[in-house]
Amino acid sequence: MSIEKSFFGTTKDGGEVYNYDIINAGGSRAGIITYGGTLCSLLVPDKNGVLTDVLLGFDDMEGHEERSAYQGQLVGRYANRLVNGSFTVNGIKIEVTKNENGETCLHGGGELSHAVWTAEIAGENSLRLTYTGADNKEGFPGVFTAEVLYTFTDENEIIIDYRASCTEDTVINLTNHAYFNLAGFDGGDVLDHELSIDADYFTPTDKKSIPTGEIRAVGGTAFDFRNLKPIGLDIGANDEQLISCRGYDHNFCLNKRPAGAPAARVRCPRSGISMEMFTDMPGVQLYTGNFLDGEKGKGGTPVNKHAGFCLETQFYPDTPNHLNFPQCTFLRGELFVSRTSYKFYSDR
Ligand code: BGC
Repeated sequence: MSIEKSFFGTTKDGGEVYNYDIINAGGSRAGIITYGGTLCSLLVPDKNGVLTDVLLGFDDMEGHEERSAYQGQLVGRYANRLVNGSFTVNGIKIEVTKNENGETCLHGGGELSHAVWTAEIAGENSLRLTYTGADNKEGFPGVFTAEVLYTFTDENEIIIDYRASCTEDTVINLTNHAYFNLAGFDGGDVLDHELSIDADYFTPTDKKSIPTGEIRAVGGTAFDFRNLKPIGLDIGANDEQLISCRGYDHNFCLNKRPAGAPAARVRCPRSGISMEMFTDMPGVQLYTGNFLDGEKGKGGTPVNKHAGFCLETQFYPDTPNHLNFPQCTFLRGELFVSRTSYKFYSDR
């Protein structure tokens, strides 16, 4: 176990960004950069023992700042969408940034994902990142403090522990927006990856990708991932939900599970790499990289449609505007505490 620190690059504003590689006993590595608290690389063995980087991403700051689509970044204060960029707390309507088409707040306006976080090595396999956001940043009330602890274990599990609080009553929803490709970042599309999600319901969306409020059963639909099936099997189904999003871009309502049970599993038949995802959050956004469009990624590889999949653990999108969803309002000083992890295995 060791952690190696190296200079990564400089932001447009002149901020210095560092990479920290957590290297485990088996030689697997998790790389985190301080810009966006981004999970930047994850090298785990494939079925032949070859270390494979299963994350899409970039080799330089220009990529992370200009073309990222939130790749690997920490996202908040409110992950995913808020309709009309607003929500109500204590009867007071709060207007926040409308960074998507001037209509919707997406991923908190990029506050956490575009900030340079402060890093501190916290033991031989953990990195602590901290961020403080000023009152009214992107329109969100109160001074916001977040702490994220990344731990990479000898069992090839990357654990993300989130803690956050605010000096005002507000909504909090934090996630990591990693795009995985278990055949490697240059492994083509992920449509052959087999996926299961322990969810009997999902939240359909309107044409602007905002939940309608309905909680719909997955049974008999393309959204039924209760047993492993290739991501591409039903992605082209004649379902208005898939057509309007160009693929999956939906929140799944996770079932209650026995302690220690994964919420999702993924397996790539080509590389023999599998992943289990664990979380204490009520929802997960399955996003199949529907809007990736050939942007240059690591090693100059074009990142095309469906080149990666995201499993973004979260409160459901637009929760504060849907009282039938599990709620995410935190009183001033109250701690948001959450853990999500991704554990990797190989067929060997
Ligand atoms: C959203 C997508 C969006 C992507 C990148 C996902 O969380 O659900 O609609 O395109 O993030 O911003």
